[in-house]
Amino acid sequence: MGKVLLTVLLLGLFGCTDKKQATTDVQNGNELYSMYCASCHKESGNGQFLAGIPRNRDTQYSVNEVSDLIRVGHQDKPSMPTFSQLTPAQAYAIAAYLKYKLGSE
Ligand code: HEC
Repeated sequence: MGKVLLTVLLLGLFGCTDKKQATTDVQNGNELYSMYCASCHKESGNGQFLAGIPRNRDTQYSVNEVSDLIRVGHQDKPSMPTFSQLTPAQAYAIAAYLKYKLGSE
């Protein structure tokens, strides 16, 4: 059910009707999140309270705002590292995974 909903959301988001492509985007977001974010925020997105890492799975930031936070940072979140090596599409895939997959669990 979660996966179906997610696929539907991503189909809408990316404006594509190719189901395979949407599935690939989810997969990419998941893998990239594991690679770049989970060390701090954990795979669950619950963060590590004692280490000062906030939950990010229920962030109030939009997908676009999270994409920007990842690549260029945000003035209100100076302790969050930036990942300028990621492409906008990669950052967007991570943000969509965070918001629509982790955020809905
Ligand atoms: C080195 C540890 C570290 C890594 C790696 C990291 N973050 Fe963070 N993140 C933080 C810290 C610390 C904050 C709090 C920043 C602040 O308040 O100044 C934060 C804040 C955030 C927030 C804002 C949460 C809120 O309050 O709404 C989001 C969203 C977020 N991170 C997403 C990500 C994503 C996506 C990645 C992977 C691309 C990532 N983070 C990688 C440490 C990290």
